[in-house]
Amino acid sequence: MRTQVGIIGAGPAGLMLAHLLHRAGVDTVVLERRGREHVRRRVRAGVLEHSTVELLRAAGLGGRLDREGMPHHGLSLRFDRADHRIPLTDLTGRSITVYGQQEVVKDLIDAREAAGASILFDVDEVSVHDPAGDRPRVTFTDAGGTARTLACDVVAGCDGFHGVSRTAFPPGALRTYRREYPFAWLGILARTPPSHHELIYAYSDRGFALHSMRSPEITRLYLQVPADERIEDWPDDRIWDELAVRLAVDGFDLRSGPVLEKGLTSVRSVVTEPMRYGRLLLAGDAAHIVPPTGAKGMNLAVADALDLSRALVPFLSRRSTELLDGYSERRLHRVWRAEHFSWWMTSMLHRFPDGDPFEHRLQLAQLRYTVSSVAAATSLAENYVGLPYDHS
Ligand code: FAD
Ligand code: PHB
Repeated sequence: MRTQVGIIGAGPAGLMLAHLLHRAGVDTVVLERRGREHVRRRVRAGVLEHSTVELLRAAGLGGRLDREGMPHHGLSLRFDRADHRIPLTDLTGRSITVYGQQEVVKDLIDAREAAGASILFDVDEVSVHDPAGDRPRVTFTDAGGTARTLACDVVAGCDGFHGVSRTAFPPGALRTYRREYPFAWLGILARTPPSHHELIYAYSDRGFALHSMRSPEITRLYLQVPADERIEDWPDDRIWDELAVRLAVDGFDLRSGPVLEKGLTSVRSVVTEPMRYGRLLLAGDAAHIVPPTGAKGMNLAVADALDLSRALVPFLSRRSTELLDGYSERRLHRVWRAEHFSWWMTSMLHRFPDGDPFEHRLQLAQLRYTVSSVAAATSLAENYVGLPYDHS
């Protein structure tokens, strides 16, 4: 097999890259380890930044997003037993849209299949060879177990945090920066209308909780739990009781309902540098992880894909390397901004085990300042709605 761009991974980064390159007339092959239904159903992030929505629309993916996505113009920070609204749109002129990652993934898969371009699901033993040469290759076994080789001009490693692309960098070529946090998020999807029309980020004595949503009938909720927590220790009743305590303020009624999905997400910050080795380019979680508190992970993945597609078109058509040479540095600039914001939100909103009372007072001071100063609230808001793409 041969293609111009071999793309490993059918998450938001790989599928968006494939979509944008296809629209630019570039041939791609997407290799995905998991099955089609698994990928379409995987529940993950839910907040699209302003620029992500504009990009999806410009790329012909605005149909269902504009019908079903829920535009939001503010969010609440809940602490001191009260809500403090950050008016995102009043402060920035921009908004966010709540639209599940799995909906974006479904729209991208549908668009690719409608265009007659395929995704090879259920592949295994994926490995990248000769990334420093002119003709890198990806070897894998297909869904039927047959060994295959895909010859490429360029390979895009979009295979997430547990992917194999990074392992094709030679020893010493990658530097990894990381921070682990002593907690995880337990997330549920519940069949019940949201209890509030906006997102609520709650800082309570018992830890962080988040109220989000997917539709007028489906609520998404998260709880901070210890990093080594077992999901079996959290029957549904315990989750609802804990959410009710952490989200309690006068006049707020948490609506419970059947739990449709339940899972643990680890909370960590990781950046690997650089995002390129020869003809192998990394995008999305394959290169960087942010804690979910800033809602940045999927947005970064899509923004990487946009930049990479713009850099690959001149390279593939006339071997112009100028944009491609700057890819890693341009993206790392933005990645580190998102890393900082996500670390800051995480540090402000979670309770740290063995709670140091000094730390607690600092968190409250920061929260109170953030909601009472227009300058501080604007800083949160402009990072949350996302900086425009051409701003560095
Ligand atoms: P992924 O979505 O991880 O896609 C990578 C793809 O590559 C996957 O389909 C995977 O199956 C495939 N793959 C892996 N290895 C191979 C291989 N060897 N060969 C072929 N294919 C391979 N962010 C938020 O902002 N809010 C959230 O609430 C949130 N929740 C999350 C919950 C979980 C459980 C996880 C894991 C992440 C969550 N994130 C969240 C982060 C966000 O979902 C990611 O940032 C986003 O998915 C990144 O997209 P991606 O395309 O880079 O990677
Ligand atoms: C979600 O709706 O899943 C969600 C929202 C905001 C976050 C993280 C996740 O910060």
